[in-house]
Parts: sequence; structure tokens; C-alpha cells
Amino acid sequence: MLILGIESSCDETAAAVVEDGRRLLSSAVASQIPQHRLYGGVVPEIASRLHVENTVPVLEQALQSAGVSLGDIDAVAVTAWPGLIGALLVGVNFAKGLCLSTGLPLVPVHHLRGHVAALYITHPELRPPFVALVASGGHSHFLLVEDYTRFRVLGRAVDDAAGEAFDKVARVLGLGYPGGPEISKLAEQGDPSRYRLPDPHAGGEYDVSFSGLKTAVINIVHTAEMKGEPLDRASLAAAFQQRAVEMLAARLAEAAGERGLPAALCGGVAANSALRQRAEELCRGAGAPLFWPELSLCGDNAAMIASAGYFEFLGGSRADLSLNALATREI
Ligand code: KG4
Ligand code: ZN
Repeated sequence: MLILGIESSCDETAAAVVEDGRRLLSSAVASQIPQHRLYGGVVPEIASRLHVENTVPVLEQALQSAGVSLGDIDAVAVTAWPGLIGALLVGVNFAKGLCLSTGLPLVPVHHLRGHVAALYITHPELRPPFVALVASGGHSHFLLVEDYTRFRVLGRAVDDAAGEAFDKVARVLGLGYPGGPEISKLAEQGDPSRYRLPDPHAGGEYDVSFSGLKTAVINIVHTAEMKGEPLDRASLAAAFQQRAVEMLAARLAEAAGERGLPAALCGGVAANSALRQRAEELCRGAGAPLFWPELSLCGDNAAMIASAGYFEFLGGSRADLSLNALATREI
């Protein structure tokens, strides 16, 4: 069964074709990062307008490189929630138009379920149940993936998401957007023990708080500026990354180990090599095998939406033309 996936929830316009939820035929992504970089973050209005311009070209590219036409597609899966509302509306309305004109079934997909489904493409043998950390620019969720379409939230970031914290810390350190890869690069030259950062605890067992950690970094930067003292930016980046990675990796390993289940990293932050390395160490200690998607499927893409859409379709999920996008929605 061939699913066409469409993704436009943030700053990537993407289309992809996936067979039976796991076999990737094509994945086209038009990134808007260069246009948003100028402003140090995503500008929602610009994102919406660029999605309008990019949707048809990425769709054509995805169909062409898969070697298929719309007539070969069995269903259209689209990210309907959560995300930037104007951005989501472009993809959702495009998908509705496509389904109206072709008669194809329409399947709404939750963006975070998409990030989890990226794992199924990279790891054909991986099946639920497992414990997943979905860490992106907008969310950091520890999920019990009970089945392909059944999820339980074990814990979450109660304030800033992990990626958001990387982006904000990068900005105060004078680095570019997106901040995650920049921090990761700079941290390689630093000594994480040069700066002491707090280990903030949130309410629930698997909840995390990044706001306190981010503020501690900002305070160090401002104090150094005020006193005219030199700042070792690389070491501060390394200290921040080490602390953030520890918060995430320790909870993932514990949640998976306690349940005797495999563990998985996904979402944009799963591209972080320090996180992968530390999660690997801790998961090994907890007896949990660890999975993550190939790099190209960690950040936003439509292949993960097509994969999630396949499983949602099998579970009976369909939308009609009354489908509306939602900026927030529980998984
Ligand atoms: O999943 P994603 O592409 O988009 C959202 O759904 O938000 O995640 C984007 C986030 C950004 O905050 C970005 O800084 C972060 O993922 N990110 C990273 C790395 N690469 C991307 N964070 C840490 N280390 C990285 N290597
Ligand atoms: Zn995402």
C-alpha cells in the first residue's frame, strides 16, 4: 500500500512516498532555514507563505523520485496537529484539495506520532511496545509506545522543549539558527567541567525542565559581560549540552529499563551525537537496546508522516473535508 505523506507544521515543507509503512520510496524536503536564519528563529507568517510556494514542487519531486503518479497512491497522510497553525493549514488544505480531486482517503497524522514512525523506516524489525523520547523544537515527550497507534505519555518537558533550549542558548552564545547543531559543534572544543550548571527537577518522575538550565546559562553570559570577564563559550556550550543530554538520556534509560522494553530516540534533537552516545551507554547499563532513525529522518520530513499515516489508516482513521488543523493536541 502506497501512502503519500505531506508535512508543513513548522519550517520544512515536505512530501514523501512510503510503501506499507516501512519502505521509503522517496522523501523530498524544502527547508526554510536560510530564510528564517536572518531573524534568529522561525517567523510564522514567512513560514506559511513559503509552504504555499513549496508544496506543489515538493509533491512533484516526491512522486517523480518514487517513480509513481498520483494514480498509484492509496491514501494521503497529512500532519494536522500540533504545530504553527498557519503553516499546518497550508498542508491540511492542500491535502484536502488533493483528496477531493482524486477521491483518495485522507488520514490526519499527529506530528509526534510521525517522529516515532521514522523509527519504523530505519529499523524494519522494530515493533511496539517500546519507550521513546521524542525531542524536537516544540516538544520533549517520554512516551510508552504501546502499539502503532496507542501512546501513553510517561513524562514531558514542563516548560521549554529540549530543542528550544538548545536554540535559545545558542542565541545568547551568538551562534546561528537552528542552535542544536551549532552548540554540538562548538561543544567539541570545550571542557564541560569549567562551568557548574544546575540539575533542575520537574514534578513527575519522567518530567524535565529546561527553563532553569537555560536561565543559568544566560546568567553566566550576562555576569561575564557586566564584569568584563572573558567567557569560554565552547566550555559553556559543552556544559549545557552535557547537562541537557544527561537529563534526557537518564530518564529514557530508566523508563525503558524499568519496563524491560527497548528504548528509542527521535525528533530533531535525536541528531545530537552526544545524546546518542550517552543514551547508548545508559541504555546498555539498563539492559535496553536503543534505536534511533537515520539522520535524514530525525528532523522534520514527510516520510515519517506517511509511515504513521499507514498505521493510522490500518487502524481505521479517516478524515473528511471538515478536517481542521490544530496548533496543540495531545498525542
Ligand atoms: O523535529 P524538528 O526538526 O522540528 C520540530 O518538530 O520542532 O526539531 C528541531 C529542533 C531544533 O530546536 C534544533 O535546534 C534541534 O531540533 N536540533 C538539535 C540538533 N539538530 C537539530 N538539537 C541538538 N543537537 C543537534 N545536533
Ligand atoms: Zn518535528
